[in-house]
Amino acid sequence: MGSTSTPDFTKGFPVDDLQNGGMIQGRVGDEDVILARHADEFFAVGAGCTHYHGPLADGLIVGDELRCPLHHACFSLRTGMALCAPAFDAIPRWRVERVSDRLFVREKLAAPAQYPEASTKRPPNSPSSVVIVGGGAAGLAAADMLRREGYDGPVTIISADDSAPYDRPNVSKDYLQEPIPDEWMNLRLPDFYRERRIDLVLNSRVLSLDLRHKQVQLEDGRTYPFGALLLATGAEAIKLTIPGARESDIFYVRTWSDARAIFKRVETARQVVVVGASFIGLEVAASLRSRGLDVHVVAPENQPFERTLGAEVGGFFRALHESHGVIFHLGRTARSMEGHQVTLNDGTNLQADLFVLGVGVRPSVALAERAGLEVDRGIVVNDYLETSAPGIFAAGDMARWPDPHSGQQIRVEHWVVAERQGQVAARNILGYREPFNAVPFFWTQQFGVALKYVGHAEKWDAVEIDGSLDMKNCAVSYKQRGKTVAVATIGRDIQNLQFEAAMEASLRKLPRATHG
Ligand SMILES: Cc1cc2nc3c(=O)[nH]c(=O)nc-3n(C[C@H](O)[C@H](O)[C@H](O)COP(=O)(O)OP(=O)(O)OC[C@H]3O[C@@H](n4cnc5c(N)ncnc54)[C@H](O)[C@@H]3O)c2cc1C
Ligand code: FES
Repeated sequence: MGSTSTPDFTKGFPVDDLQNGGMIQGRVGDEDVILARHADEFFAVGAGCTHYHGPLADGLIVGDELRCPLHHACFSLRTGMALCAPAFDAIPRWRVERVSDRLFVREKLAAPAQYPEASTKRPPNSPSSVVIVGGGAAGLAAADMLRREGYDGPVTIISADDSAPYDRPNVSKDYLQEPIPDEWMNLRLPDFYRERRIDLVLNSRVLSLDLRHKQVQLEDGRTYPFGALLLATGAEAIKLTIPGARESDIFYVRTWSDARAIFKRVETARQVVVVGASFIGLEVAASLRSRGLDVHVVAPENQPFERTLGAEVGGFFRALHESHGVIFHLGRTARSMEGHQVTLNDGTNLQADLFVLGVGVRPSVALAERAGLEVDRGIVVNDYLETSAPGIFAAGDMARWPDPHSGQQIRVEHWVVAERQGQVAARNILGYREPFNAVPFFWTQQFGVALKYVGHAEKWDAVEIDGSLDMKNCAVSYKQRGKTVAVATIGRDIQNLQFEAAMEASLRKLPRATHG
């Protein structure tokens, strides 16, 4: 028997208890189901997000879309399809029948074909082949979207990485905390590439682009001709030269193999020094501290994240880390290393079994530069993610695009943005001419505290905090000339989604002529 607070939708639910834009979670047999309303239409869909099982009932309905509170994936209430990354797979749906003033959820509906036959869906353009350089977030999302849009020609992902596309955010989080199975890291299992006919060329670095003859050349001399090309080379960790440092004791955190190497080393380690108080540095610090290591963080800034999130939020994260025993050496740099000792610029000596360097990344633009594409602290793309060479697209960490929300050319290092850019670039390769206008979004997770950030504020003139950082329940607004340009939330996922929806709505009210 179901509990009184969890309605059994097969027994009927009062129409009037469901407001427009509202939803409620209940059950149909053994399954958790959401009953949702958009105007006078009613929908019943699965309650778990297909990304990381986020509770969709805590999310937001925007028109006929349902958005996940954890990382903002959106699903169509009509079809169940995952419309925007980071989810790729559909949620199930049920038929809803209205009988007088009650709604009844009936049988489960067949899922629409996620990868339609080319005969049923034909994109406006169909290049002879698509080559994607880079097998990360943007590259995989693009390949997936090409097939979802019915593109039938050859798709090749060429990746310098030794692993098929994986969940890079986990490299500094769960993967360092405890042994987790490989399936958790892989974004798609091997069958996916076979079934979708996506040729995955791993351990292979593209050396040059020959735009005139439409081919890419690999370091080992192989060439791949292309009908259309997407650059999705991401970013690489900045290497720091510390006098006396032994390469075998220095670890970076960009790839899954970096994480494997750290994981192996910490099995016998007791102390770690993390150089850099970036998101990645502090995520690593939190992960390794939670494994019981002594963790010291050395960084030149006075407060972590001060430049990106402001002093208040930075102070909160510092205190959070300190409460877990992380020791900060802020306003300092590593001057030299000898054996297992690092000497800071104020003379402090710290012992460590390993040193993890998280001092930022630089966009991987060398290929584009050599090919003569326009590069300005990233590969410059237009609204449609097309580079200065017509027909060559770029997406992800190294793309600098005209963000319609801030009115600036921006480049970010956000997982969801990279995936969504990959999706939009794929559609544009197929001729849809779709501007990229997603609101930038990222999250970080440290010691169980998740911060979600939506919008983009390189600078701000005021910060307003609604709620309490200490209570881990707040929304921090970053303002420029009285206008909120970004919001960071802790414990208020719904507010984060609402701000994203408000930014989208205000864009729809603007004339779209300003970005060419
Ligand atoms: C440890 C870590 C944790 C993160 N956590 C978060 C988080 O919590 N939230 C968040 O929003 N973002 C997070 N990010 C950022 C996020 O992972 C990136 O924004 C995202 O991966 C960018 O995707 P991308 O496809 O542009 O590049 P990548 O995912 O870096 O993929 C680039 C690909 O290009 C390949 N490549 C590069 N050059 C060549 C070449 N010449 N030839 C062939 N292949 C090449 C690389 O091998 C790689 O496969 C994190 C990043 C890291 C490193
Ligand atoms: S769990 Fe839903 S978007 Fe990540």
